[in-house]
Amino acid sequence: PSPGIALSPSSPGRNTISLLASESNAKNVKLPPNALVLPPTTQLQALLTIIRDEKTQRGDFVFTSDRIIRLLVEEGELDYPPYLPPATQRSGQSPLGLVKLPRLNHLPVIPKTVRTPVGMEYDGVSFQGRICGVSIMRAGEAMEAGLRGCCRSVRIGKILIQRDEETALPKLFYAKLPDDIAERYCLLLDPMLATGGSCIKAIEVLLSHGVQEDRIIFLNLIASPEGTHNVCTRFPKLRMASTVPAPPLITAWIDEGLDSRSYIVPGLGDFGDRYFL
Ligand code: PRP
Ligand code: URA
Repeated sequence: PSPGIALSPSSPGRNTISLLASESNAKNVKLPPNALVLPPTTQLQALLTIIRDEKTQRGDFVFTSDRIIRLLVEEGELDYPPYLPPATQRSGQSPLGLVKLPRLNHLPVIPKTVRTPVGMEYDGVSFQGRICGVSIMRAGEAMEAGLRGCCRSVRIGKILIQRDEETALPKLFYAKLPDDIAERYCLLLDPMLATGGSCIKAIEVLLSHGVQEDRIIFLNLIASPEGTHNVCTRFPKLRMASTVPAPPLITAWIDEGLDSRSYIVPGLGDFGDRYFL
């Protein structure tokens, strides 16, 4: 095992990674500034434990993956913490008086005032610019329903990229994207980031269709440190066009590394096979 991986005393000879070791390792991984990891809540840890378990059957794998994907999409799509209108920003209070000033916005918003049914004006916001989803097939398609659940009738493009089983190198087969994708923010969907090759190829396709690098947010379930580094350093301008810098790569978890077949360890195996087959 690599440094930082704890061998379970109860199962000598087997390389097992304890939650605690994995958790502290995740904290110790030095993330590029443009990567964001979801807070490791106990809920998220429990959900990830289910999908990593080789004994988990497909029904539970799909249900649990969908729950994590929904958390990810909401993180990618919604403000965290919420945008505060200028008046409340000045006082340092949210409209509910609960949270302090915002730190990050993943999608920029502009002020919008509406009139409520009781005749009062409400200073709110609306999303600036349009978005679309782009899934890296096949596994990325598993994230489409989560995106649709948050953004009704969102347009979704598809890029078919498959890793060569022997070399782990990505091969591009097909891309079908919205005509006006160059004017949109893109939520790029793929649950697994191993070497980073597939993600990099997909970003190249988006860039060749005129998408601005700083308008791409990559949403991902499990990433290796290598893949995270490769993607984030290759595209350092991946930033949202926002007054507040926002991270483009949002992942549920950073794992320990890659094995000799370039599978993520501890990982969860082949996501596409476990979700679809
Ligand atoms: C998987 C996964 C990513 C890629 C990650 O797809 O969904 O697209 O591998 O590996 P990388 O970072 O080393 O490129 P795969 O090509 O196995 O196809 P699938 O979606 O059909 O399972
Ligand atoms: N693709 C997967 O589905 N899992 C891995 O660990 C690596 C690539």
